[in-house]
Amino acid sequence: MRKIGIAVLVSGGGTNLQALIDSIQKGEINGEIVIVISDRENAYALERARKHGIKSVYIHRNNCTENLISELKEANAGLVVLAGFLSILDRELIKAYEGRIINIHPSLIPAFCGKGFYGERVHKAAVEYGVKISGATAHFVDEGTDSGPVILQETVPVYADDTAETLAARVLKVEHRLLPEAVGLFCEGRLRIEGRKVIIAEKEV
Ligand code: GRF
Repeated sequence: MRKIGIAVLVSGGGTNLQALIDSIQKGEINGEIVIVISDRENAYALERARKHGIKSVYIHRNNCTENLISELKEANAGLVVLAGFLSILDRELIKAYEGRIINIHPSLIPAFCGKGFYGERVHKAAVEYGVKISGATAHFVDEGTDSGPVILQETVPVYADDTAETLAARVLKVEHRLLPEAVGLFCEGRLRIEGRKVIIAEKEV
């Protein structure tokens, strides 16, 4: 099967990007990262890309959409991965890549997600609510915020003495497994969207 060109959109430290790079290097994903794009000029994720010889581009948040679309087309991206990307994608881009944009969110959607729920804020809300489990969700992106069809989820326990930081660290470990797994399934052509459901086809032997 032809390798899928993967564009990774980032805003921060890029540990999810690193997990993807590492998984590809282990031969677990039938794809290659063709470009890393950030809306933050000093995102360390851009440095991670440069270290691995991956094209890295900073796009100013003001004229994001048109530049994003042209960079993605030029890179011939077949899949867009949001790995800690903080800007909201424009409707035009989501339509252009419908069913080909995957996001990783650090909670069990539909809990603690949507407008304003990103990074530590997600874990602070979970700890303050007193939930007993949280986790991570890999999902397709639709025109809402964190509302697209769910691909994979995995839980983590939440302890009474947890802080947002201790929970974030526990969930991040899960993200680093879940995102590469979801991207790998996509690149093997094993994901089928049926309404709100994502059907995962058995691995062909
Ligand atoms: C993390 O909070 C992660 O939960 C979310 O994006 C943030 C940045 O992650 N997905 P990264 O280290 O930049 O990948």
